[in-house]
Amino acid sequence: MHLAGAYSGVTFQPSDPDAENRASIDAWTAHLGLANVEPALHIDATKTFAPVTAVDVVVCINMIHIAPWPAAVGLIRNAAGVLPVGGFLYFYGPYRRNGAHTAPSNAAFDESLRARDPSWGIRDLEAVVELAKNAGFAAPDVVEMPANNLSVIFERA
Ligand SMILES: C[S@@+](CC[C@H](N)C(=O)[O-])C[C@H]1O[C@@H](n2cnc3c(N)ncnc32)[C@H](O)[C@@H]1O
Repeated sequence: MHLAGAYSGVTFQPSDPDAENRASIDAWTAHLGLANVEPALHIDATKTFAPVTAVDVVVCINMIHIAPWPAAVGLIRNAAGVLPVGGFLYFYGPYRRNGAHTAPSNAAFDESLRARDPSWGIRDLEAVVELAKNAGFAAPDVVEMPANNLSVIFERA
């Protein structure tokens, strides 16, 4: 919603596999009166991005640590399938780097995620970069964000 408000000339296509979350997205779009946000689609990243076939940027915020690892695998595979050369895949969230958490608060968050679901957890940045490399993305720009989060920005080579 923040990005859609900031970039009114860009059309945003939100998605979520969860019906309640799609309803929440659509409610926020209506509440803010954003004309450049389409109704949320039911997309499970482990499956296919259909009916989406071509976009300029794929944005994934706070998802791959709150889902099983195959969600990251599928997200990157599907993003490579819909992005042109020069298109961007953007991740936001917490990551481990060089085998370690970047802050005690991230370690505690990771523990709480794994307690909720053992298949969840803060991902190793290097593992995500490896997946992306194998799917045809260049090495990412990594930008440190507030509260020990990262922006990880891949360009399709
Ligand atoms: C913490 S929420 C983040 C939602 C939103 N991106 C945000 O930052 O406010 C994590 C979201 O990931 C979604 N999710 C879980 N598994 C997924 C999958 N396989 N494909 C796509 N989304 C998934 C959940 O339904 C949930 O809405």
